Amino acid sequence: MEVLHTAKGTKNEKYEVLKSQLSALWSGESDPIANMGNMASAIKHTFDFHWVGFYLVRGQELVLGPFQGPIACTRIGFGKGVCGTAWKEKQTQLVPDVELFEGHIACSALTRSEIVIPVFKNGKVVAVLDVDSALVNDFDEIDQMHLEALSREISVFFLVQNFFFNSKFFPR
Ligand code: SME
Repeated sequence: MEVLHTAKGTKNEKYEVLKSQLSALWSGESDPIANMGNMASAIKHTFDFHWVGFYLVRGQELVLGPFQGPIACTRIGFGKGVCGTAWKEKQTQLVPDVELFEGHIACSALTRSEIVIPVFKNGKVVAVLDVDSALVNDFDEIDQMHLEALSREISVFFLVQNFFFNSKFFPR
């Protein structure tokens, strides 16, 4: 069984350890859902954030995907809340204080700051990564840089998935 070794040290050092552990886990698995699940768990347990998870684009809505933390809203419309805004704008949303973000969707009253990163496939948003903290102003450009890098790696699994499913090795 895999064990997550959470690092001590600076935020950058923690992200470096997290990235190398995820790379090891991902080297044996290409399914995006499986890899998003372990990524959510590893981020949550490394930093003890309140909630970490993915919403997946399903038609005109985001639908709850793999996550770690308390139960959450299952559907979010295009352009709605922080997640729907990240989808619409195709850009990371870093929200230092959720009470100051008009239209924030409070799945949990404990969330005080939030960062949402879009996951792309061929230039289209296919999912968003949502990381919520119970502390105000808990995210900065270091989190943004590392979480965006990890999200780009998840993008690769969405591409690879199609490649295999459409290939002669996995005929439909
Ligand atoms: N706060 C998010 C909704 C998702 S939950 O926080 C897990 C938003 O405003 O989009």
